[in-house]
Amino acid sequence: MEMRTEDAAMKVLLNAIPLIVMLSVSAAAQDKPPRDDPNSGRMLYRTYCATCHGVDGRGNGPAAGTLLTPVPDLTTITLRRAGEFPAGEMAQVIDGRQPLPAHMRGEMPRWGVILDRMELKNERAVKDRIAALVAYLEALQRKQ
Ligand code: HEC
Repeated sequence: MEMRTEDAAMKVLLNAIPLIVMLSVSAAAQDKPPRDDPNSGRMLYRTYCATCHGVDGRGNGPAAGTLLTPVPDLTTITLRRAGEFPAGEMAQVIDGRQPLPAHMRGEMPRWGVILDRMELKNERAVKDRIAALVAYLEALQRKQ
C-alpha cells in the first residue's frame, strides 16, 4: 500500500524528466550565476516538487491534474496559519516517515523515504535536503 505512493511518485518523476531538463535549461538561461547548487532548496524544489505543486508553488504543476487529491497552494501556508510558518511541521509533512495525524497523505510522496534511498541512508544529508526545501517554502510565502 505505502510502496505504491512512492512507486507512483517515481513514475511521475521519470515522466517529468524532459520537463525537468527544460526547466533547468530555462532556469540556467535566466539566472545569474548560470549554475545553481543542485542541493539548494530552489533546485530541489524544481526537481522534485514542481511537477505537482507548480514552479511557483501554487499547486498547478503539470502532474496536478492527474492526481485524485487536490494539490495545495504552498505559497499560502503562512496565511492559512494566521501568520506563523510552521517550519517543523512542514519538515515532518515533507519527510513523511513520522506521519502527522492532521495531514492526510493522499498522493504526497514520503520524501524522507525517497531521499533516504537517494542519499544512501545518510540521515544528515536527508535532513539537510528537507531543511533546504522548508527554507525555500518559507521564502515563497505570500503576505496576502
Ligand atoms: C505526486 C505529486 C506531489 C509531489 C511530487 C509533491 N507533492 Fe507535496 N503534496 C501533494 C499533495 C496531493 C498534497 C496534499 C496532501 C495529501 O497528499 O493529501 C501535498 C502536500 C504538501 C504539503 C502540505 C501543504 C499544506 O498546506 O499543509 C507540503 C509542505 C508539500 N506537499 C511539500 C512538497 C515538497 C517540498 C515536495 C518536493 C520535495 C512535494 N511536496 C512534492 C502532492 C505532491
